Amino acid sequence: MATLAFDVTQLNPVYRPYLTDTHRYQIFFGGSSSGKSVFLATRAVLDVLQGRNILVARKVGHTLRASVWNEVGKAIDRLGIQDQFDIRTSEMTVTARANGAQILFAGLDDVEKIKSLTPARGALTDVWMEEATECDRADFKQLDKRLRGQTRHLKRVTMSFNPVYKTHWIYEDFFSGFADGDTSYQNAKVSILKTTYLDNRFLTEDDASSLRAETDPYYRAVYTLGDWGTLGDSVFTNWHTEDLRPLRRLYRDRYIGLDFGFARDPSAAVNCALDRPGRRVLVFDELYETGLVIWELARRLERFAGRNLITCDSADPRSIAELRALGVRALPARKGPDSVLHGLQWLQGHELVVNVTCHNLCRELSHYRWKKDAAGNSLPAPEPGDDHLIDALRYALECEQLNRRAVVRRKREVGL
Ligand SMILES: Nc1ncnc2c1ncn2[C@@H]1O[C@H](COP(=O)(O)OP(=O)(O)OP(=O)(O)O)[C@@H](O)[C@H]1O
Ligand SMILES: [Mg+2]
Repeated sequence: MATLAFDVTQLNPVYRPYLTDTHRYQIFFGGSSSGKSVFLATRAVLDVLQGRNILVARKVGHTLRASVWNEVGKAIDRLGIQDQFDIRTSEMTVTARANGAQILFAGLDDVEKIKSLTPARGALTDVWMEEATECDRADFKQLDKRLRGQTRHLKRVTMSFNPVYKTHWIYEDFFSGFADGDTSYQNAKVSILKTTYLDNRFLTEDDASSLRAETDPYYRAVYTLGDWGTLGDSVFTNWHTEDLRPLRRLYRDRYIGLDFGFARDPSAAVNCALDRPGRRVLVFDELYETGLVIWELARRLERFAGRNLITCDSADPRSIAELRALGVRALPARKGPDSVLHGLQWLQGHELVVNVTCHNLCRELSHYRWKKDAAGNSLPAPEPGDDHLIDALRYALECEQLNRRAVVRRKREVGL
């Protein structure tokens, strides 16, 4: 077995006891920049030298390379042990030369890869789910099952994330013994460590002061203090992600909504379907791009929307007219009185199933919150800002929120 003269002062002290933790389930959660990813990447590198085979998973495959893959590379560099590994960038594999054990990477959206993935030598011993709150319970179960086969190592599923809100399945499944205010917890099944930027002695003063300066209550709770966000603040807790590819063909009637943007704000559109009996909205695709001039947007929409009608933000009649002149079937949203609240309440009455590829919409949904008054009570209006796709979603389904006849008339009104 390879041994490494390893200087533990390279690691933040709070994490050091977890180098040898053998709980089946391990949770590292808390605030931003608390050193979770760097620690777990370093531990993965040290563990693979001990013969562990580790799968690093995220919900969406294309986010791996710029995040965990880089972290593992940096950990190897920091330890100065590049010569002990065979690193294949195109396949994203790291193989320990001495024992053949591997660190493998996969996105949960790549079902085939997840199914067929096996280490070159021996069985998988570890799964590390980075940003695990992006994943649903079924993803976790699937990965947990992947840890089968003979090995001398105790098997582990490690999850790292920023806490979102308490109705999340991770909270429900693992946090019953963890009280608000605790920083660590263990039972026979799980170990939990909560950290914040204060636990990271390697953080630059700039990064620390921007976290200290956060004034938004939700962001401060989750990203500065590492606390689970409060349920009452979130507009949407009735949503989850799913791989919707198998359902694409079943739902041919699509609803398209568009929110205009250009320089700072993106042009934002969603392509969704309605499952009326199941009271579900299925969001298949998102378009989210800044800097599109109108003919570029028209070209994108051709592919994005096909021949479906597109309900657009009516605050910009000129853009709608221009899109129509370019052959796009664009309609203005009606935006009656209270349409925002009405639209949001309508969406709250449905389960929102968001395709795993729609990561901008997922971000918006998880951060979208009601405004508060000075006493901290929620007001019936959302906090504006990071909400372009949510606006597009309201527009897309506006005709369902009004009534169907109105829509037919509206099409005639505009000569479609
Ligand atoms: N052991 C370490 N050695 C050197 N630098 C470190 C170490 N741990 C953390 N850092 C520095 O702190 C930064 C933040 O750490 P890291 O990315 O691990 O935080 P995080 O908890 O994963 O944050 P987030 O929740 O935002 O993903 C790193 O980019 C790195 O610069
Ligand atoms: Mg991280």
